[in-house]
Amino acid sequence: MGDPRVTDFVRIHEVGPRDGLQNEKGVIPVADKVALIDLLSRSGLRDIEVGSFVSPKWVPQMADTDQVLTRLTPAPGVRYAVLIPNMRGWEGFIAARVPEVTYEVAVFISASEGFSQSNLNCSIAEAVARLTPVVRAALAADVTVRGYVSCVTDCPFDGPVAPDAVARACHMLLDVAPMQLSLGDTIGKGTPETVGRMLDTVLKDVPASGLAGHFHDTGGQALANIEVSLDKGLRAFDSAVGGLGGCPYAPGAPGNVATEAVLDLVHGLGFETGVDPDIIVQAAVLARGMR
Ligand code: HMG
Ligand code: MG
Repeated sequence: MGDPRVTDFVRIHEVGPRDGLQNEKGVIPVADKVALIDLLSRSGLRDIEVGSFVSPKWVPQMADTDQVLTRLTPAPGVRYAVLIPNMRGWEGFIAARVPEVTYEVAVFISASEGFSQSNLNCSIAEAVARLTPVVRAALAADVTVRGYVSCVTDCPFDGPVAPDAVARACHMLLDVAPMQLSLGDTIGKGTPETVGRMLDTVLKDVPASGLAGHFHDTGGQALANIEVSLDKGLRAFDSAVGGLGGCPYAPGAPGNVATEAVLDLVHGLGFETGVDPDIIVQAAVLARGMR
């Protein structure tokens, strides 16, 4: 059964400007990224992930995140999230952040060792050691922290991932600090059965109110996976406007589930999001034109 603290409000975490654009072949001009983020920020979205402070050799598409932070127009009530793997990334963020803007720092690990090596060039335990000082610095600076766990059902290198491995990865992050955990089906291979089984295990000791679902749509199962997650009590989902997305270090990862499709689904089921679908459709047109 669902967690009693969850409500009929579904919180959408827009990841298109980061998870979407990081996977584009060409580098998108900063002005285009900022135009997309500023349009999204007028839709009622409360969380927009705008970039990452990772190695520019690994993900050149995100190398200009510092400029994105300084050039976007902050909208009231919007929290701007950035992905940070290590203290080098934290220092880049600190140098670029603008006073008075509300930010969130997202740290990330994998539930599988194969993807950890491919994405972060280190083991899961080493990734946690590298992100721990980032989490401490963020909390000391009053910046909220979110944690991603990737490959929650399948890994492109190790194959099917056991639900217990996901629960262990969740605990590795929660042992660092309390944070919302976003459970990533990185390569979109999850099905309502595998996602449901994974959630049953994780929910044994993490409340649904502390979890978000992050579904890529390779297998066309993302909406069905959101439905099963809603049934289990989750009320936060990541999505990318226009279905942009993928992960450069996860072969086969296509776009994230499209924000406009998630809105259709959850509004149709009677949930509120506070997000205006018309503006999201405009943003989807803008996003597709940038590719
Ligand atoms: P490494 O090569 O092992 O790191 O990479 P290193 O510490 O040996 O450093 C190598 C070089 O990178 C050095 O520069 C560092 O200064 C620099 P050099 O001396 O060669 O000139 N460096 C940095 N530069 C800028 N920012 C930094 C940084 N750190 C080191 N933060 C590292 C390790 C973590 C850096 C690398 O593996 C990396 O950047 N990985 C990020 C990969 C990535 O961004 N993947 C996509 C995001 S995750 C995702 O999409 C999944 C998600 O959506 C959820 C889901 O779908 O499951 C979140
Ligand atoms: Mg992703």
